[in-house]
Amino acid sequence: MPLRSIPVGDNKGISVFEKDLKKHMKSRCNARPKELPACHSLNVNCTLPLSSEELEFQKNIYSHQNMFVQPWLARVQLHELSRNDLDSIIDKVSVAYDANVAPIPMEQLTHHSSEKRRNIVSSTKHLDQLSSLMGHMEKNGMLRDKTACFVEFGAGRADLSLYVKKAASEENGEATYLLLDRKSVRNKTDQALLGQSHNKSRVQRQLIDIKDLDLSKVECIADNDKKVVAISKHLCGCATDVSLKCLMNYVETEKSKGHTDPIQGIIIALCCHQLCRYEMYPNQEYLKSISISKTEFERMCKMSSWATCHSGGNSVSTAQDDKDDNDDEHANSNTNDGDDNSDKTR
Ligand SMILES: C[S@@+](CC[C@H](N)C(=O)[O-])C[C@H]1O[C@@H](n2cnc3c(N)ncnc32)[C@H](O)[C@@H]1O
Repeated sequence: MPLRSIPVGDNKGISVFEKDLKKHMKSRCNARPKELPACHSLNVNCTLPLSSEELEFQKNIYSHQNMFVQPWLARVQLHELSRNDLDSIIDKVSVAYDANVAPIPMEQLTHHSSEKRRNIVSSTKHLDQLSSLMGHMEKNGMLRDKTACFVEFGAGRADLSLYVKKAASEENGEATYLLLDRKSVRNKTDQALLGQSHNKSRVQRQLIDIKDLDLSKVECIADNDKKVVAISKHLCGCATDVSLKCLMNYVETEKSKGHTDPIQGIIIALCCHQLCRYEMYPNQEYLKSISISKTEFERMCKMSSWATCHSGGNSVSTAQDDKDDNDDEHANSNTNDGDDNSDKTR
């Protein structure tokens, strides 16, 4: 009988021999419906229910990588607003800022473990930030306990965890690394995280949207009493909000079990404020108190990109930088969007 090759589901471009279809669908096909992990709890870290448009978009987020802008962001057209509308938002932000935010000193630190790479990298953009993050972790005692569970939110390739491993001199498999992302990546870093010694570190990659994450139910957290150290580099606006909510929920759960102090520290380098979502922002009461409506919140998010867009600016980025920046869905070079809120400089 001749072998017949048939397309798999609506996954255009993939076909398998008919005789292999059953096996392919059972264990091989990346497009097969996946079972939800025990730690999945839909929207548990959102503050308000999400619109059906957003839920639909999120379901398919990784088939949207080439979309220039998320649909609800595209609807916010700053260039159509009057000067008064824009000024009113700027004024409200300035008043709230002056009333609530103490001066934040610029403190760029370095860490000796990262500095060894300075002579071998072509661009120091990421190294500068990683070295400073390690410096701040050291300064705040977040590298002291090598047996901790380092939880990297929006981990991507998990370079940050690798820097932590080096900075903490974790060489004998003491630590656990939990790498969270909703996008699957090539797990090239994971081998290095396991380490060279006979005793391997514990490494768990969890593919999940943080908005749906019940941290207390992740296997490598649930089966032991290790302290959690939460880390992240370039976590987009709403992902930072839901990560903090996720950690708060985790603290509550652990307290109810009698564990008083389950988190040893949190360090997050933010990015992409334009991707904040009203429904994921954890404190709508506060927004009300400073008279920021949902519409103004969305406009404010988009305006936040004015701080980083560099049309006509003098920042120079290398080809590798641009590649790095475009490796995720955050690079919003909104060419099909009226407003320039490109985010290439971060
Ligand atoms: C800008 S990248 C940074 C990646 C990596 N931390 C680095 O510094 O190279 C942001 C990462 O966060 C992930 N991410 C964004 N929102 C997320 C969410 N809600 N849940 C899980 N991962 C998310 C993205 O898939 C992406 O890998």
